[in-house]
Amino acid sequence: MSNDLLRFEDEYLARYYSKKPINIVRGYMQYVWDSGNNKYLDMHTGFGVAFLGHRNPRIVNAIKEQLDKIITVPLTFYNDVRAEFIREFMRVVPNSFGKVFLQNSGTEAVEVALKIARKISGKAEFLAFMNSFHGRTMGSLSVTGNEKYRKAFEPLPYKVRFAPFNAVDQVDKLVTEDLAAAIVEPIQGEGGVNPAKQNSLGRLGR
Ligand SMILES: Cc1ncc(COP(=O)(O)O)c(C=O)c1O
Repeated sequence: MSNDLLRFEDEYLARYYSKKPINIVRGYMQYVWDSGNNKYLDMHTGFGVAFLGHRNPRIVNAIKEQLDKIITVPLTFYNDVRAEFIREFMRVVPNSFGKVFLQNSGTEAVEVALKIARKISGKAEFLAFMNSFHGRTMGSLSVTGNEKYRKAFEPLPYKVRFAPFNAVDQVDKLVTEDLAAAIVEPIQGEGGVNPAKQNSLGRLGR
């Protein structure tokens, strides 16, 4: 890997991941290539960001078509493509989902969920799980059950009780009158790829 330009990443990019000495320059579907034209099967998928693969022609064409029309339309106007997306999205989520709140990232979605729970319930506490990961902004960090991410930012804005993942009996003990909502990953990712037991999720919903 010899490219003088890359040192700018080392010198100026905030370092919060350790880095492999590979310069990825292009991708196609499930593969990526480095600057030496070595081909890799992409099992990293940019932490899930590229889980649909790279440069899938259908996705590339759809993006190009939209870029040629208009890039952004605020929510103060209608937009037919956005409406089509919402129609398709509502087809795949459970019927009980009433509204969509479009966000740019996972951590923003969690922030919105916490705020909505707080506003609707009028309560201030949350229940979350040990080893969970919900994002790096302050609200999401509050419900993230891993000391490694939280430590430097405490005190965090929300009061949160953490239950052991999949320990249904302990969840019951932590449900109090002050609880606004519980937040859970159906499959913990950061915590070690731990699927939630079906009965534990069902119990949480009641
Ligand atoms: C379960 C879960 N929630 C939220 C997030 C935060 O998402 P983002 O990195 O898009 O902010 C992640 C990221 O890995 C995640 O795994």
